[in-house]
Amino acid sequence: MSLNDKIQGKLGFGAAPLGNMFRAITEEEAAATVQAAWDQGIRYFDTAPVYGAGLSELRLGKALAGIDRNQYTLSTKVGRLISKETDDSARSGPFSHGLSNKIETDYSADATFRSIESSLQRLGTDRIDIVFVHDVAQDAHGDEWVEHFNIARKGAFKALNRLKDEGVIKAWGLGVNRVEPCEIALDLTEAQPDGFLLAGRYTLLDHALPLQRLFEKAKLANAEFVVGGPYSSGVLVGGKHFEYSEASAQMLEKVRLITELAARHHVNIKAAGLQFALANPLVAAVIPGASRPSRIAEDVEAFHATVPDEFWLAMREHGFISPAAPLP
Ligand SMILES: NC(=O)c1ccc[n+]([C@@H]2O[C@H](COP(=O)([O-])OP(=O)(O)OC[C@H]3O[C@@H](n4cnc5c(N)ncnc54)[C@H](OP(=O)(O)O)[C@@H]3O)[C@@H](O)[C@H]2O)c1
Repeated sequence: MSLNDKIQGKLGFGAAPLGNMFRAITEEEAAATVQAAWDQGIRYFDTAPVYGAGLSELRLGKALAGIDRNQYTLSTKVGRLISKETDDSARSGPFSHGLSNKIETDYSADATFRSIESSLQRLGTDRIDIVFVHDVAQDAHGDEWVEHFNIARKGAFKALNRLKDEGVIKAWGLGVNRVEPCEIALDLTEAQPDGFLLAGRYTLLDHALPLQRLFEKAKLANAEFVVGGPYSSGVLVGGKHFEYSEASAQMLEKVRLITELAARHHVNIKAAGLQFALANPLVAAVIPGASRPSRIAEDVEAFHATVPDEFWLAMREHGFISPAAPLP
């Protein structure tokens, strides 16, 4: 088990914005953003069927077409099937500008195989390296999430374990915004995940819970993490969204205080966000999302920037970083 040795590069690209997250982007912008990532050395790409109801996978596949498949790591997700039928209510929430294909939630084994088959077609590739069971959590399904989790436990988890044993995929895990399903999954004996794509829960703005409840347990199980949403949906670095909704005044104030502290130490806030996540030895990769090529240069620069120790200590002193969090 482990994700670290399955992923190429510590800085990846999160392709949710290619599904027209928050705003409609053109085919050219989508292609140029992936091209910028490739040109600047990014070799890990994460997507999902649900990102724009297939749009993110289609665009990512098109942009990577022609590149030697061994040169990059690809992850996508299962748990939501994209139907050929259309339904305008599919265009809702952050993906209201996505495609209007109907989305059906299904964490069974059969749906897992069908979902992977459809993803391969949309992505135009013959294999997926890592498959995450998507959003099997309270934030996505309300109290019914437990029922979905039980279906996944008997269905998707076992199916993915089998695909891994057969060498069809290299690793599998859960792709979630919540800590609880990861905790429960680590207790399962029948099918143990290699790790988790944990989004929004290990950022400068929010990291207490996995430190308290998840990381020790994950370490014992050899499970590692991909950190999704390292900018908390953008608000940390000048965007308007937190957790896929408009950021509250309280959150904007917290960001202002952190940004001010960073500026006093001549630290780029993106560098602080990415390097905070990567300082944790359980973190295999961090995958900021972007819908413009210019963001990639910012991300790559931030990844390589030097952040002085005094900044991290000041962040801890001001209570912005938990004493339990490893510092870079
Ligand atoms: N459940 C799951 O499995 C799950 C959940 C969430 C995320 N993820 C994965 O993690 C990836 C990253 O998460 P994310 O894309 O949601 O959020 P994120 O990486 O925290 O933030 C991305 C957002 O930050 C904005 N941003 C970047 N630089 C900026 C700047 N200088 N000024 C203003 N805004 C800026 C981007 O805006 P632009 O669009 O304008 O570039 C983008 O909308 C996803 O793409 C997905 O692959 C997985």
